Amino acid sequence: MFQKLKRKWNVNGTQLFLILCVFAITGTTTAWVTRQATFWLQLDASSFWFWAIKIAILIFGYQILILLFAFPFGQFNFFWKYEKKILKRMGILNRQLPIGNRQPINDLNVVNYNNMQSTWKEQTVNIAIFASGAGSNAQKLIDHFRQQAGIKIALIVCNKPGAGVLTIAQKENIPALLIEKEQFFRGNAYVDELKQHNVDFIVLAGFLWKVPVALIQAFQQRIINIHPALLPNYGGKGMYGTFVHEAVIAAKEKESGISIHYVDELYDHGKLIFQARCTIDENDTAASLAQKIHALEHEHYPLVVEKLAHELQNRR
Ligand code: GAR
Repeated sequence: MFQKLKRKWNVNGTQLFLILCVFAITGTTTAWVTRQATFWLQLDASSFWFWAIKIAILIFGYQILILLFAFPFGQFNFFWKYEKKILKRMGILNRQLPIGNRQPINDLNVVNYNNMQSTWKEQTVNIAIFASGAGSNAQKLIDHFRQQAGIKIALIVCNKPGAGVLTIAQKENIPALLIEKEQFFRGNAYVDELKQHNVDFIVLAGFLWKVPVALIQAFQQRIINIHPALLPNYGGKGMYGTFVHEAVIAAKEKESGISIHYVDELYDHGKLIFQARCTIDENDTAASLAQKIHALEHEHYPLVVEKLAHELQNRR
């Protein structure tokens, strides 16, 4: 049972122990507070208020206490995520996320990573991140999968010497492959090198070259991209990074967002997997919009990748 919980919550043995302590202490304290409250108010079991107060404390008091106890045990982040899930289920959090009115769009073949299952088989899914820039998404993916059994960031692929993502690869001790145009577009598209690193899945995170057909064929349905706008709008050749945000602001759009999609032979064109959106205020500039978009990307991309890697694992 403990192994199952560790996999489900994606935690190690020590963290599981601390989490179970928090649950136990919160349960006991809530029961004690409920008893004391009805005692101080001199309510007995025949009164309506006795039950109303008991239920209110059990439902709401419990949620507050669990966060209070989580803190000294160093488990606040775990329980805050847990609370957010509960609040969302109650319909309280859905529309009040920190950035604008963002909401995952759930009507287009979307990854619902909330129902993600941890059913890892033994073989690890090796991911190659392709990036050309600063690499903030790459960093988030690395952080997300660092402690995770079953998924490994096995390789960073970059086409730009000196790019920030190469420094990240070095710092994180992840092999990096600096690729050249000639071999990428007119050679083997680095398929052999990727296979040598046992790459199963390719994640583009700010990679600005078009992906050649040879690579798409070698990794069918196993290459995904993130685009900083709500495709099919504001995609295509030349639409990347800040150019996208400038175009969105110039068009006086009221909202923008992120799109995660499979990669095909055209720029920003393959089948959509996931979108999330944010509002644009009157005062927003391309730079402030870029920040909102990055926050959305960092929040969702690792979870979508995780979900797809699980599916890949289960297809094997
Ligand atoms: C990201 O916003 C990503 O969506 C965008 O480049 C940025 C890379 O940021 N990609 C595209 O525009 C692709 N068309 P990062 O290097 O900080 O991860």
